[in-house]
Amino acid sequence: MTDLSKLEADLTGAIAAAGDAAALEAVRVGALGKTATISALLKSLGAMSPEARRAEGPAINGLRDKIASAIAQRRSVLEAAELDTRLAGESLDLSLPAPPRRTGGVHPTMQVMDEMIAIFAELGFGVAEGPDIEDDFHNFTALNFPPRHPAREMHDTFFFKPGADGERKVLRTHTSPIQVRTMRKANLAIGAPAFDVYRAPPIRIVGPGRVYRCDSDATHTPMFHQMEGLVIDREITMGHLKWTLDAFIRRFFEADGVVTRFRPHHFPFTEPSAEMDVQCDRSAAVIKIGEGADWLEILGGGMVHPNILTTCGLDPDVWQGFAFGFGVDRLAALKYGMPDLRDSFGADTRWLAHYGFSAFADPNPASGLS
Ligand code: PHE
Repeated sequence: MTDLSKLEADLTGAIAAAGDAAALEAVRVGALGKTATISALLKSLGAMSPEARRAEGPAINGLRDKIASAIAQRRSVLEAAELDTRLAGESLDLSLPAPPRRTGGVHPTMQVMDEMIAIFAELGFGVAEGPDIEDDFHNFTALNFPPRHPAREMHDTFFFKPGADGERKVLRTHTSPIQVRTMRKANLAIGAPAFDVYRAPPIRIVGPGRVYRCDSDATHTPMFHQMEGLVIDREITMGHLKWTLDAFIRRFFEADGVVTRFRPHHFPFTEPSAEMDVQCDRSAAVIKIGEGADWLEILGGGMVHPNILTTCGLDPDVWQGFAFGFGVDRLAALKYGMPDLRDSFGADTRWLAHYGFSAFADPNPASGLS
């Protein structure tokens, strides 16, 4: 027993004297490790007579436990002291700039939509929207698409399976259904209670949104973005349409002198219809707008067909107007010099970092539109 007391005193002294974690670990290995003193004593129990073991066992085991807990206690004291020393020695300079963080950006298509809306807002247009999943009536019938029109073919349009009522919904092929929805609301709002009267004609809206077509090559993607425009009032003419689009294009491309031209065209829902081309230079890899002697088709438009007005409940002898529509992604690519439209939907973060915009670069007439 005296041996054990002495051993305990020695070890306790060594534990108290251990000045750091390494010294304490050396004591632990010496006392409790595989070949250590206490371990040897525990092993010797096996060779003892049962009586001797009964007498010695508890003492040796007790010593092992005491030493183990003394070591644990000392370790936490040493760790606390070490932390105190580190805290006392280290300092944090809160005035240093924070390390740069990766931030998200605004996709060019979304930025350009905001730019366009800001321009049309200056011209007095509001914003109207419609659903991506449309019914046949809004996407085709109300817009004067005859039953055999190619846009109604399977290979041009994404149709849903027929619903319970047998109707096949479509992913809208253009934003023009927004025209129909807006005019029908306007019709209902004529003579409506004052809170709804803002929907009544005159109408002046743009309708941005996603559209879908069974189309995929370098210049066509199955999903893209369009912006619709609709103006309905008394005595609206094609001249108003031309002026509005010219004003928009000049502002959008920041090219005051840019020349445009109207080419006769056909849309079922406008009469007369036209496509608008913009002056450009195609001699370099990236098309330049507002220079050179080439033409690029950028949008379609025309006077709202009397059938459409009638279908929507507006009397064509009272109300006339114009409508137009264009591809947002394509105008974004032209304005910001992106060579391939498909990259716009590639989700490559390097492309987004290059062409994207800061979330704080909110386009508006005061801070600038691009
Ligand atoms: N909806 C037509 C298209 O997708 C564009 C358009 C809109 C034409 C409005 C005339 C009037 O091609």
